[in-house]
Amino acid sequence: MDFPNEMMRRNRAWAERMREEDPGFFDRLAAQQAPEVLWIGCSDSRVSADQISGLMPGEVFVHRNIANLVIHTDMNCQSVIQFAVEALRVKHIIVCGHYGCGGIKAAMESRDYGLLQNWLRNIKDVCSHHEAEIEGLSGEQARVDRLCELNVQAQVRNLAHTATVQNAWAAGQALHIHGWIYSIRDGLLHDLEVDLSDVAHVPAIYRTA
Ligand code: CO
Repeated sequence: MDFPNEMMRRNRAWAERMREEDPGFFDRLAAQQAPEVLWIGCSDSRVSADQISGLMPGEVFVHRNIANLVIHTDMNCQSVIQFAVEALRVKHIIVCGHYGCGGIKAAMESRDYGLLQNWLRNIKDVCSHHEAEIEGLSGEQARVDRLCELNVQAQVRNLAHTATVQNAWAAGQALHIHGWIYSIRDGLLHDLEVDLSDVAHVPAIYRTA
């Protein structure tokens, strides 16, 4: 099948359906976006932020990369965070991982993935940091899934270490960071309960002010 053509066809049908259901929909969206949430998720095709959370266009600002990483030298991700916090003034940032993540699996292997190796290195560091716990689990799936969770927790901390987030907190801006994980097996989101809403739990060495 010519999939790009199929996508154009589905787009026409979707736009028409939206206009029928809500004639003012596109005019409102064209005027401005005011999402309350920044979503940082995995690029995996099965983990689409708006679809799995039942959201409409305009409701979530999105950044996705392999294994939902927040790396301090990644200008793409850092720029998205700054724009979302300072310009859009989102109230929540959700780092959402997913069980069975291919990026996490690849990072646990001793194999050369070429350029991608540099990206996976960040996950290997998280894995190495929790080696005893992960090695203590039985079965590959349990080990991968636990690292998926630990990786989300590490990225929540990385977010709290950014100047953008700390400046917002210092200015009294309400900004909550959440760590969630999605199960492809049943379509459900789970809260890892690692929320951060102020600088209190940020170690001194990572504080910018
Ligand atoms: Co993934």
